[in-house]
Amino acid sequence: MTVNWHERYKEQAGWTRQTREYLLSKVDFALPKKVLDVGCGTGALFPDFEKSNLTGVDIDHGNLRVAIKGDTKKDLVQGDGYHLPFSTGSYDVVFCHYVLLWVRQPILFLEEMKRVLKPGGCLLLFAESDYQARIDTPEVQKQIGNLQNASLEKQGVDLETGRKLAGYLEQIGCTKIMTGVVGGEWDRSTRSATLEQQVLRSDLQKIGVEDIMSSDQAGSLTYIPTFYAMAYR
Ligand SMILES: C[S@@+](CC[C@H](N)C(=O)[O-])C[C@H]1O[C@@H](n2cnc3c(N)ncnc32)[C@H](O)[C@@H]1O
Repeated sequence: MTVNWHERYKEQAGWTRQTREYLLSKVDFALPKKVLDVGCGTGALFPDFEKSNLTGVDIDHGNLRVAIKGDTKKDLVQGDGYHLPFSTGSYDVVFCHYVLLWVRQPILFLEEMKRVLKPGGCLLLFAESDYQARIDTPEVQKQIGNLQNASLEKQGVDLETGRKLAGYLEQIGCTKIMTGVVGGEWDRSTRSATLEQQVLRSDLQKIGVEDIMSSDQAGSLTYIPTFYAMAYR
């Protein structure tokens, strides 16, 4: 199953837009500023930072190529989040969005994000899922959810990433830590399940499950809590 990742990232950015606006309104200095998007992917969050001096960094050339096509004004750099190719203390705001889930050593990764922040700069973890706390209903959907979690664990994902964000920020010595959960609502009349189905099928194929029942049958629901956190250097 091929997943249209660019569309998927844009969809996720849509779900978390209100939370980002809320968090950016809480930053205790005036924006726009010098901002770094770590693991920027295909640039789904770039439209939020039209007025900022934004740099996007990602390890994946393919994602960066898509980002470049969509926004030639942004400064895009290929690089590894564990070894950011930037000077210490060079950004006012450093953020990531759905990235820590895929990172095996989140503390090292976050320490590096903090390193490139100016003293007093703001670290924003806009959205990280907590698959361990997922709610799937009815029973058949629960079974599909368990299979997806098994696949994610096989892919190296820590299913409890979301709930650990504030603790991570404490461990790396940040101050003024705030955390919470992204709100959710579902418009069942207009919602398209296509992209979610693509992701689910792709995850299940990774553990050899080829044929799943529709996960969007009447009355079914999947909710994966998504946490955010912010703090200062
Ligand atoms: C799920 S995507 C999210 C992309 C984007 N932040 C968004 O929300 O649309 C995760 C991104 O993190 C990037 N990534 C994973 N490990 C990385 C690393 N060590 N350094 C830099 N980028 C990394 C991946 O290449 C991918 O583009």
